[in-house]
Amino acid sequence: MRKILVTLLTVLSIASVQATEPTKSAVEQRIQPVGDVYLAGAEPEKPAEPAGPKSGEQVYQQACFACHGTGALGAPKNGDAAAWAPRMAQGIDVLLKHAINGFNAMPPKGTCMACSSDEIKAAIDFMTKS
Ligand code: HEC
Repeated sequence: MRKILVTLLTVLSIASVQATEPTKSAVEQRIQPVGDVYLAGAEPEKPAEPAGPKSGEQVYQQACFACHGTGALGAPKNGDAAAWAPRMAQGIDVLLKHAINGFNAMPPKGTCMACSSDEIKAAIDFMTKS
């Protein structure tokens, strides 16, 4: 009789553990945040930015101006032909390589990591045309 009782209790306790064992998705549902917080301008519903390459001027304004508009860190300034001349003499391939990989205080891609090589080149063309 005692053996039967012990077996019964064991079966019951296992069954109850299984019954209360929460499923993974139930846990995820319970611990999910009450609300989502988005930074202004980063809302997910917002339609994606228009596709297609940015113009050299747009890239320059967004990414390069901070240094190349002001000469910060010794950056050659936009449209400063004298500052750009010796750099242009290296050829566009070297300039583009330096702009993409970084060069001394010049950060890789001028910090525009989303920019394509063509967009970086367009920005260089924009800055070096006098
Ligand atoms: C954080 C400041 C900073 C930003 C942002 C920046 N640059 Fe520069 N850039 C520099 C500095 C400083 C140099 C000069 C590096 C040197 O000659 O030692 C430079 C040099 C260059 C050169 C010349 C490289 C050479 O071989 O002489 C090119 C081309 C260039 N930047 C393109 C860009 C483009 C395109 C952008 C934007 C997409 C950009 N930079 C954004 C600081 C910056």
